[in-house]
Amino acid sequence: MSNLKVAIIGAGGHAQGHFAMIKNEPEMDLVAVADIDESRLAHTSDEHGVTALFTDYREMLEKTALDVVYVETFPGPLTDIVVDCLEAGLHTSVEKPPGVTSDDTRRMLEAERKSSAKAIVSLNRRYFPTVLAIKNLLNEHGGPVHVAATYNKPQASERIREVGHFISLDAIHHVDLLRWLAGDVAEVYAEAWSAPTHPSEMRHNAVLKFTSGCGGVMMSHYAVGYRIQRFEAHAEDFSAYVDMTRGQNAEIYIEGEPFPQDGLDLDAVGGPDFNETRHFVECIRNDTTPWSTLEDAVKTMRLCEAIETGHKGPLPA
Ligand SMILES: NC(=O)c1ccc[n+]([C@@H]2O[C@H](COP(=O)([O-])OP(=O)(O)OC[C@H]3O[C@@H](n4cnc5c(N)ncnc54)[C@H](O)[C@@H]3O)[C@@H](O)[C@H]2O)c1
Repeated sequence: MSNLKVAIIGAGGHAQGHFAMIKNEPEMDLVAVADIDESRLAHTSDEHGVTALFTDYREMLEKTALDVVYVETFPGPLTDIVVDCLEAGLHTSVEKPPGVTSDDTRRMLEAERKSSAKAIVSLNRRYFPTVLAIKNLLNEHGGPVHVAATYNKPQASERIREVGHFISLDAIHHVDLLRWLAGDVAEVYAEAWSAPTHPSEMRHNAVLKFTSGCGGVMMSHYAVGYRIQRFEAHAEDFSAYVDMTRGQNAEIYIEGEPFPQDGLDLDAVGGPDFNETRHFVECIRNDTTPWSTLEDAVKTMRLCEAIETGHKGPLPA
């Protein structure tokens, strides 16, 4: 079977991680790149040796034989580009956030439903091997009873402050992680306020009730001391506290005893190098559904919006 021919649209900072994952993926060949910024294209040519370079992604879609496209722009231009790729019948990886609002995500979902192609949303925490192994242990111990996440930063980027959706554009990673571990959310009791001394920075706390009966807490605060990304997940006799600020450092307890992180069965979840790109290849080859679909991402975006607006009560559909 021949390798999948891949293109990237938007060759910025975050795309570099996708360049690396595609390069390391034995069943993918990167054949073209589009970016409106010519200096970014020149850098791409130097750094990654790609010669089919386009400033107009539509021209690239017309002129290049492709199977898969990675759309790596900021959320403003992303929705139209993803819709064009899906309408062209190309399997599409959608960078997070999937649009600026859940209506954008729904628009991409409608395009996917009319297309023969698959879309995967790059909610990449779902694919971290440590997260997958902990999810397996949680379920082996009767399923989650409580999950919590912290996503803090000294300040938001200028772009996030301009658009204003602090949770959907940034902390979405950990909102989605809670859903990945505990499932659909039934109710949200959220508070949102701006930092008194830094009025352009937002702070959010949310208590969640999952349809399974599991409880949850999401905290995201800007204008605080340091960038911290943590989550915890508990079953009846199981607890994991995971620091993802740098790497995936897990403190795990089973039946009152510490359980070493190197005891996690990473082979059972695809090995230590498993990632979203490998998963997408498997889905395309085996005609299976990705773990992070646009349909599921609509739910994550709706939850982000509820937290952002300080919603209290059942989660609106
Ligand atoms: N998953 C993660 O952990 C993570 C981390 C950082 C950023 N991101 C996300 O990645 C996205 C991009 O962030 P970034 O930091 O790489 O931004 P960036 O500005 O460095 O890169 C975006 C690139 O898209 C290009 N672009 C914009 N419009 C285009 C168009 N119409 N056609 C072709 N190219 C176009 C820009 O010229 C730029 O090179 C953001 O949505 C951000 O939220 C995700």
